[in-house]
Amino acid sequence: MHFEQRTTTCGALRPEHDGLSVTLNGWVNARRDYGGVIFIDLRDRDGVTQVVVDSAHTPELSAQIHEVRAEYVLWVKGAVRMRENPNPRIPTGLIEVLVSEVGIINPSDVPPFEIVDELGTNEELRLKHRYLDLRRTVLQKNFIVRNKLAQITHRFFEQEGFLEVETPVLTKSTPEGARDFLVPSRINKGRFYALPQSPQLFKQLLMVSGFDKYMQIVKCFRDEDLRADRQPEFTQIDVEMSFIRQDDILSLTERFIRTAWREILDYSVPDTFPRMTFQYAMETYGSDKPDIRYDLQLVNVSSRAASCDFSVFRDTVAGGGAVMALNAKGCAGFSRKQIDELTEHAKKYGAKGLPWLKAQGGETTGSFLKAVTPDQASDLLNACSAADGDLVLFVPGEWERACTIAGALRTEIARRTGILDGLKGTYSFHWITEFPLLEYSDEESRWIARHHPFTSPLPEDVNLLSTDPTHARALAHDLVINGYEVAGGSVRIHTNAVQQRMFDLLGFSREDAESKFGFLLDALKYGAPPHGGIAFGFDRLVMLLCGTDNIRDVIAFPKTTSGLSLMDGCPSGIDAQQLRDVGIATISGE
Ligand code: AMO
Repeated sequence: MHFEQRTTTCGALRPEHDGLSVTLNGWVNARRDYGGVIFIDLRDRDGVTQVVVDSAHTPELSAQIHEVRAEYVLWVKGAVRMRENPNPRIPTGLIEVLVSEVGIINPSDVPPFEIVDELGTNEELRLKHRYLDLRRTVLQKNFIVRNKLAQITHRFFEQEGFLEVETPVLTKSTPEGARDFLVPSRINKGRFYALPQSPQLFKQLLMVSGFDKYMQIVKCFRDEDLRADRQPEFTQIDVEMSFIRQDDILSLTERFIRTAWREILDYSVPDTFPRMTFQYAMETYGSDKPDIRYDLQLVNVSSRAASCDFSVFRDTVAGGGAVMALNAKGCAGFSRKQIDELTEHAKKYGAKGLPWLKAQGGETTGSFLKAVTPDQASDLLNACSAADGDLVLFVPGEWERACTIAGALRTEIARRTGILDGLKGTYSFHWITEFPLLEYSDEESRWIARHHPFTSPLPEDVNLLSTDPTHARALAHDLVINGYEVAGGSVRIHTNAVQQRMFDLLGFSREDAESKFGFLLDALKYGAPPHGGIAFGFDRLVMLLCGTDNIRDVIAFPKTTSGLSLMDGCPSGIDAQQLRDVGIATISGE
């Protein structure tokens, strides 16, 4: 099919091009027929240009395009001229192209949804026809930002002396806390590769090899429950450095984030980011990734709750738990129904109920008022600096659980009261440090590493590994932006002895540790340098830079929250021969 190749794009023409003869190629965004004249908005990645067919004077042209509808692909030749009715909302809005020749390059069926930025079409339909969804300007803009961030990343780390090294995709399992995606081996039947949850061990081994500063933009794979900010395959900017201290990793990260935000958003990021310990973040915001752009802080009212008559509070504190409170300022007007909804929300995070007090019109009301004296009630309200018009929510329970539930309520109150709406386009950057090294897994009845088993304890806590592991803190760091954990890392264990001790503590038998991580334990015997690093969630950074809260908006072909690709229909069944080749039988009925 003949077509004239474009001389410029649909986003490039301006008043200074008035009179210029041009050829455009693109998709029909919209067509408006006014009898004597036909307007077509022609679209490509670069923008939209209005082209005009003067059907009164060139009827042969209008005949040629009489069948043209949305999403047809056209070539158009003509002269640029100033518009009679300019459109100030688009960059090409002052000009138009008067068509002298036109041709259909390829027709289009009627698309299953309109290709417009604001659409009500359900996401399933859009994902099924993702190639059409991706024609939308809003999404294309996201990928321009994504590309820009990738370029900035390569340049920044190259200038900082980092070497980009690729690590394998067919690997042995690395524990990052999720399940592995497995790949069966055909040549070695009954054996499996795991897709990497991260290149963690490889980057550490590259340090042992003397690579000194490594980085990679790399795909990672995790079989875990999906959320709005999680995908089963996602991209990390993975970084590791030798002969460093934790401060070096943090300041490198701060320089990188500053560069990215300046170059992409022209946004000025502070020189250094505040650091908050895990303990402080949990106790104050009820989260290890709090959005600190708004205040709404929690209060630990355990000491007052311990001496009040309400047995739920008293018994919780007596049993070693805590009572956390959240003053929902100005929310005393919340109805019973709204409080019930908050209670249901708290229950999703493990709360049994949601005791509350209200100070309203000089009176105190509440769900447990009968169980406390008036003095005790006002004491609890005072502890939360509650004033008239405030609603205070209480969460009794094991300390971390209670903090987490109160933190979930904090986010919910911010959402309901519209605090978040006023924060669009603003950013807060901070570090969370001093995470507990270990946490107890009820499921596995053993200690597991909170970050991963290669993270070093704080030097002053190494001895706690033998005496009091619960209180050992990790030399780990998470970067939090607007309530998203966008990066995480640590200083690593670099001696065989401490790594071995760590595996002992995590309940690996010597044989188990040897078979799973023998290669790492060996490598640590041959002069491993002190090292550490960080990995950024590349997709999450792009989400923040694009101002979206849906990770699927920044991944070209994402999976749904149930792990499906609606467009190509994977995961799909495979034929019996393929299974036989890799020595696998499926269990019928599953
Ligand atoms: P971590 O597990 O914290 O650390 O991962 C680093 C960052 O990757 C992003 N991320 C995800 N993004 C989208 N979908 C997911 N399923 C997903 N999981 C994680 C997050 C997170 O902060 N090897 C260590 C890093 C290190 O210690 O250097 C690691 O992978 O933004």
